[in-house]
Amino acid sequence: MEQKSRLAEPIIRVTNVSKVFGRQKEQALELRRSGQGKYMVEQETKTTVAIFDANFEVKKGETFVLIGLSGSGKSTLLRCLNGLVEPTEGMVFLENDDIAHMASRQLQQVRRNKIGMVFQNVGLLPNRNVIDNVTFGLEIQGVPANIREKKGKDALELVGLNGQAYKRIYELSGGMQQRVGLARALASNQEILLMDEPFSALDPLIRRDMQKLFLDIQGEIQKTVIFVTHDLDEALTLGHRAAVMRDGEIVQLGTAEDILSQPATDYVKQLVQDVDYSKIRLAKSAMIPVEIFAYENESPQVVLRRMKTNELSSVFVLDKQHHLLGFLDIHKVAELVDFHKQNLIGKVDGQIQCVHPDVPLRETLPLFINNDFPVAVVDHQNRLEGMITQNTLIASLTEQIKAAEEKGFESYQMEVGQI
Ligand SMILES: Nc1ncnc2c1ncn2[C@@H]1O[C@H](COP(=O)(O)OP(=O)(O)OP(=O)(O)O)[C@@H](O)[C@H]1O
Ligand SMILES: [Mg+2]
Repeated sequence: MEQKSRLAEPIIRVTNVSKVFGRQKEQALELRRSGQGKYMVEQETKTTVAIFDANFEVKKGETFVLIGLSGSGKSTLLRCLNGLVEPTEGMVFLENDDIAHMASRQLQQVRRNKIGMVFQNVGLLPNRNVIDNVTFGLEIQGVPANIREKKGKDALELVGLNGQAYKRIYELSGGMQQRVGLARALASNQEILLMDEPFSALDPLIRRDMQKLFLDIQGEIQKTVIFVTHDLDEALTLGHRAAVMRDGEIVQLGTAEDILSQPATDYVKQLVQDVDYSKIRLAKSAMIPVEIFAYENESPQVVLRRMKTNELSSVFVLDKQHHLLGFLDIHKVAELVDFHKQNLIGKVDGQIQCVHPDVPLRETLPLFINNDFPVAVVDHQNRLEGMITQNTLIASLTEQIKAAEEKGFESYQMEVGQI
């Protein structure tokens, strides 16, 4: 989860919202106010207080996550935001309009033009082709066909499905269908997207792809997104801020840093204790400087001597501007010496694993499978910034986490400064 200071004014404001399903609404809320828990109230009044006194704001362009265990009220709260559920008490402002008390015709307009929703089950129309599914919302809005087609194709390109526009839905795999669902939400004119566990039915690999895709696209189009999940890793990866829900109440509201470092209750503590550090820590946390390397225009003899002195079996090779070209192992360098070569130009092995310093550490893990060589850390111009070795990787993931447990998370966080 990334903090953004650029976030602007609130676009959604939820104030003192409660939702009771059942008859004895007033009595149930009264009991909740007097401090009785959700399930006691349920037994006593035969009604469910699905949401109790929720307050939060979502800023323009923000991805805001609602997280909590099953039954904690996430979907109900999300549905209050587009009027699918009418709160028993409280107000939901979309800019200056109170959605909670809006006439149904006006509400319909808001749903069409301002707030879109993506469900777990993507709800595609099987008889239509891909692009007609993507542009369905626009069709309902009466957008002309040529504009629809352009928007639809742009959205399909964003989700990596260009070329599939005229296929039938049943010709696509489950993961591709999910992308069509995402494309449809993106193609819409609505500025706000409500997403209720959109990826939870997917298998873990496709799910990760979709999360990455979501982040890429969101970086580009910056809609306001309210995202429901019960997966903390997903919440921390995708959201700028999150509200943690329990039994209908928001028990904590904040950034990843807030939630990880200062869990407000034992419930939140339990949620965060299994958090996957490799997703939150960045590659640069395991990076060390590359002290010994070679330039491609150096003499093989000089390089060989340097490698022997430093007991290195291979070196990174750079051009004059410090761009990474690849690596050479010591046998290859010795061979170049035997053949009286003047330099290393054209002899470098370019098959090298590279990452950027700001990717999650997790993404570097697969690069170490069957690979003893360090992973190079390069900037966007491919200049070498440092390297990650198996040892520094393991140290970053284990020793420092242990230190965190020993010292207390807060001081640890200040020390490493990058969670
Ligand atoms: N239409 C309804 N009628 C009666 N009770 C409902 C209704 N919808 C939800 N509830 C109750 O409200 C509470 C919150 O449900 P909600 O679906 O919002 O939870 P959730 O956090 O989305 O759970 P999940 O993770 O399982 O989707 C639950 O106790 C549920 O039983
Ligand atoms: Mg739900």
